[in-house]
Amino acid sequence: MSLNQSTIVGVIGAGTMGSGIAQIAATHKHQVYLFDPFPEQLKKSEEGLTGILQRQVQKERMTQNEGDEILSRIHFVNHINDFSKCGIVFEAIIEDLQTKKDQFSRVEAMVSKDTLLATNTSSLSIASISSALKRPNRFLGIHFFNPAPLMKLVEMIPGILTDDQILNNARSLIDSWGKTTVLAKDTPGFIVNRVARPFYGEALRIIEEGIADHATIDWAMKELGGFKMGPFELMDLIGHDVNYAVTESVFKEFYFDPRFKPSFTQKRLVEAGMLGKKSGIGFYDYRENAKNRAPDRDHDLGMVILNRILVMLINEAADALFMNIATAKDIDLAMTSGVNYPKGLLLWADEIGLQKVLTQLENLQKLYGEDRYRPNPLLIKKVKEKSTFY
Ligand SMILES: NC(=O)c1ccc[n+]([C@@H]2O[C@H](COP(=O)([O-])OP(=O)(O)OC[C@H]3O[C@@H](n4cnc5c(N)ncnc54)[C@H](O)[C@@H]3O)[C@@H](O)[C@H]2O)c1
Repeated sequence: MSLNQSTIVGVIGAGTMGSGIAQIAATHKHQVYLFDPFPEQLKKSEEGLTGILQRQVQKERMTQNEGDEILSRIHFVNHINDFSKCGIVFEAIIEDLQTKKDQFSRVEAMVSKDTLLATNTSSLSIASISSALKRPNRFLGIHFFNPAPLMKLVEMIPGILTDDQILNNARSLIDSWGKTTVLAKDTPGFIVNRVARPFYGEALRIIEEGIADHATIDWAMKELGGFKMGPFELMDLIGHDVNYAVTESVFKEFYFDPRFKPSFTQKRLVEAGMLGKKSGIGFYDYRENAKNRAPDRDHDLGMVILNRILVMLINEAADALFMNIATAKDIDLAMTSGVNYPKGLLLWADEIGLQKVLTQLENLQKLYGEDRYRPNPLLIKKVKEKSTFY
């Protein structure tokens, strides 16, 4: 089924992501049915979206009339009866395989045979969710980033049973919403949540070894690397419970590859309830009158930190390319538009010089004797051939 402005959109789950997806679709003139079984969640979503649109009007980003129209296009419903009219349904409920499968079986019984079905899952496989469907060929992953209305990137993830035409139709729709779409294979973490792991993992490892503290590492990544946020600020913002769960899931899904090994330090924070900003304390203290330590602005130390984290990120990006998870262009685009990296990692590697990147990884591997630091075969091959990623 080709999709256009007159396509009616269904959204399952009125939480953070579902409300955001509904807002985007309604802004692009679609009638939207936003379903949640919990009335208080529907109320919260409606109040939240009303507030967001009101602020847009106050900032003169839209007229009152436009804001009202967007809101009037979103129908907050506690049943899925109207999904029979939908051309596409996005699912954004809790990250639990069985709950998602149950919900999709119910929705499939309600929608037409041509309706596209999409999941916003961050960590479950598209294939595993699709097993609940009678027609898995019309199902795919459409992975938005938080906050969905603001973040440009959307990862498109066909499952092994997804029809090409379904993928093309879905991608055209999301592109028409002004998003930047990238195509990713149905593998753990897709592009962003896989390639970004060392940003957190290597930073945590540096702390554990006592090389530097969190403030210094954040300073080095921002000041010397040009990242908008340091790893510890970002983990505090995401929430250590969420960030740790993603790392653990990716680690398990990769059959315990040491590259993705979770950190005890982060686990202890989660156990102690130090979840970051939302709980008032994580690596930083957000409570009133709290004093946070200043970074050690030693340039040489900062460069050691930046280079170590950066080569690990580049190695991961190279692996995503090596394993055909996505094209070099899409991997770089995903990291710059999905998590605001200052530069695409593969382009950055070309600029640094692949030999330099490889030598640093080899030095780390020699020093630690750990498989975690093994250089990716594609990087080794490119250095041998004296070629580059671009
Ligand atoms: N929050 C993020 O940063 C982010 C980013 C990308 C993808 N995701 C993914 O999006 C999905 C939703 O995440 P979120 O952060 O919006 O979660 P959330 O907790 O804000 O919202 C989840 C919603 O699901 C509803 N729900 C719970 N059980 C349900 C059921 N059985 N049937 C229907 N609805 C049910 C809840 O009432 C709630 O409104 C998850 O799969 C998550 O992995 C989250």
